[in-house]
Amino acid sequence: MGVENNINRPSLIIIVFPLLLALAAFVGARPATFLQDFRITWSETHIKQLQGGTEIQLRLDPSSGCGFASNKQYLYGKVSMKIKLIPGDSAGTVTAFYMNSDTDTVRDELDFEFLGNRSGQPYTVQTNVFARGKGDREQRINLWFDPAAEYHTYTIMWNRHHVVFSVDDFPIRVFKNNEARGVPFPKAQPMGVYSTLWEADDWATRGGLEKINWNKAPFFAYYKDFDIEGCAVPGPRGCVSDPKNWWEGPAYRQLSPDQARKYRWVRTNYMIYDYCTDKTRYPVPPPECFAGY
Ligand SMILES: *[C@@H]1O[C@H](CO)[C@@H](O)[C@H](O)[C@H]1NC(C)=O
Repeated sequence: MGVENNINRPSLIIIVFPLLLALAAFVGARPATFLQDFRITWSETHIKQLQGGTEIQLRLDPSSGCGFASNKQYLYGKVSMKIKLIPGDSAGTVTAFYMNSDTDTVRDELDFEFLGNRSGQPYTVQTNVFARGKGDREQRINLWFDPAAEYHTYTIMWNRHHVVFSVDDFPIRVFKNNEARGVPFPKAQPMGVYSTLWEADDWATRGGLEKINWNKAPFFAYYKDFDIEGCAVPGPRGCVSDPKNWWEGPAYRQLSPDQARKYRWVRTNYMIYDYCTDKTRYPVPPPECFAGY
């Protein structure tokens, strides 16, 4: 540092700015570019960086889909990104945004899966939660807007009290910590952030009845504003249990009245499937299904 003795404005900036940067690195923050936090894990040739790397394009064609992952794993926090899904006839395609502990048998996983549809038919968002290897908790909603027309924000907020999946500022799914009822909760393992675009026309659209139309390929989805605020593991000591992390605050232990109202609105009007009410799969609904909301 050039300025040594008198603390004037420029030297304050010189001192404070690196401090702020260090603080930002501590809990993570919105990176300037995609490659700052993520790496391509599947088909380099199908992911294109746009706008100086602040935006990316994912491509699906008959030769391949593609995928990316965060460089780090995190324990608690919030991950969000803006996504613009495949427009027009997207039946048979699946765009996924999820967190995963990468531990086979005791896997924790939080999934957003966007299931494409025929032109004019609604996109479906499927969510699922795996805790300590147990999944099979699918819920589905149809979106109340066209997710291919413009960018919308998809967020997973995760702390020791609950996991909240949101679309813009509407919670669409809440998985509460129900350890008191004997339901495992994803809390012991850090998770990485992942995304993939692939073809799944054996199940995705109307249960596999609608096949992908390769005449419409290539298919493109777009991502930007990658935002991870969480404790990287391994990372700075004490971060995970630091009560000063914003997501540990009292306001984030349950939905606010406004969020709860929006959540009810989504469930009442847009929910098309809930494993909790699927009597064929679960003659007796799993214990977390009685937990309210
Ligand atoms: C696709 O559209 C059909 C007809 O509107 C609807 O039943 C279905 O839930 C939509 N989503 C998927 C993934 O099939």
